[in-house]
Amino acid sequence: MLAKQRGCGQSQALALFVASDKMGGLMPRGQGSCEVCKMRNVAVIGAQWGDEGKGKVVDVLARHFGCVVRFQGGNNAGHSVQFGGRHFALHLLPSGILEGQNINLIGNGVVVDPCALVAEMTGLEQQGISISADLFKISDRAHLVMPYHRILDQFRDTSPTQRKIGTTGKGIGPTYEWKAARRGLRFCDALARSGFEQRLRIELEQAQRVYSNVSELTTLTVDDVMDQVWPAIERLQPHVIDGVSFLYELNQNKTSILFEGAQATLLDVDFGTYPYVTSSNSCAVGITAGSGVPPRCIHGVIGITKAYTTRVGEGPFPTELTGSTGDALRVRGHEYGTTTGRPRRCGWLDLVALRYACQLNGYDSLAVMKLDVLDECDQIEFCVAYEIDGKTVTQFPASLHHLQKVKPIYESLPGWKTSTNTCKTLEGLPPAAQAYVQAVESFVSCPVDLVSVGPDRSETITRENGLFRRLGVS
Ligand code: IMP
Repeated sequence: MLAKQRGCGQSQALALFVASDKMGGLMPRGQGSCEVCKMRNVAVIGAQWGDEGKGKVVDVLARHFGCVVRFQGGNNAGHSVQFGGRHFALHLLPSGILEGQNINLIGNGVVVDPCALVAEMTGLEQQGISISADLFKISDRAHLVMPYHRILDQFRDTSPTQRKIGTTGKGIGPTYEWKAARRGLRFCDALARSGFEQRLRIELEQAQRVYSNVSELTTLTVDDVMDQVWPAIERLQPHVIDGVSFLYELNQNKTSILFEGAQATLLDVDFGTYPYVTSSNSCAVGITAGSGVPPRCIHGVIGITKAYTTRVGEGPFPTELTGSTGDALRVRGHEYGTTTGRPRRCGWLDLVALRYACQLNGYDSLAVMKLDVLDECDQIEFCVAYEIDGKTVTQFPASLHHLQKVKPIYESLPGWKTSTNTCKTLEGLPPAAQAYVQAVESFVSCPVDLVSVGPDRSETITRENGLFRRLGVS
């Protein structure tokens, strides 16, 4: 029985690498799904407004999967991973790249700034991480973030006449706009310099006509843009593949795939706190559109939440704490953006929002991150309902108007006032910390199978027989 329960992780860990005639590189071959949980392909999706610690969870899981896929977002994401006393900040590369064995794919739904990607690859290579074309691939359908997208993003977010979203300024929104407007440039358009330059000329001229008030844009020339981006595009060309056939082959071979979400549920363009969202589907609904796998190939979804809540940028945040408690969470949790360095807004855990994320993503399991940040709290509060215009509301509202009026209704539990950093099991956590985790589970009706009590890989607790153990994490 034990062997069966561990089968999923063991079979994936045994993934073999064989030469693939179609892909011209190494291709991992897994051994099939677990007889117990039937999960071979699993997604990791943030449950809040991002920065929940997805990078750490993907890093813990990655070695048990043959392939890690990013399917949306761009270098607005910032995943920090820490192990062996070393710290890595990832923005575009899937976190599996640190594992050095599995294949990593940037799917078609990701928008890629070629210069930022090359800089990230170079930085990691200098830290000793190998990024060969065998291990890192980019879908030929992925769109390129161009310098004019970045200029527009920054212009709009600082313009007094436009709504300030507090974007990362990386050009993400404009690139998705170009994609939807059928004007975007993709990697498959950038295989030959002359054809790419021609398309670029048309796009740049049109952008300059439409945005004639943006001086930084109107003075940009095709030569400037080519000088900036072409060396990076050339450097990336060996990594470009047909992502659809690639993932099809992996699924045919029963190779396990980990889908790595960036941003998170409440930043999703359809389901988040619109319009204060990112411009992609950053909850589980985005996986198939952003990678090209059929829905039936997603077997499980893991949700990631902090033990409290943070948000960067503008927009509603019902449980935000603007006083000394929020400041203490920020300091203890080192809550400063990986991508922009901005201080994050901090507050108590919002269980109304978390339950919404569980329902929307269909989470099979939750990981609660940064529990140790609460170690010094006397009392821990968590929001169990909203009061809007004097009425109690238990569902997460769609309208900005309502979200801005929310008064959180809290319950509280005593703090544990002791360090959890060295705890190795859920049962080894202080009783008050266990009670807090149980309160979360029972409110959202989803098991918490992983609790993180520090930034290092080693400071991770997984539940006996929980999903992480069944996927092979020890
Ligand atoms: P954009 O994605 O740069 O357009 O920014 C839109 C909103 O999403 C802003 O509030 C950003 O701060 C937020 N955002 C984008 N990426 C992340 C992330 O990785 N973590 C947290 N917030 C993010």
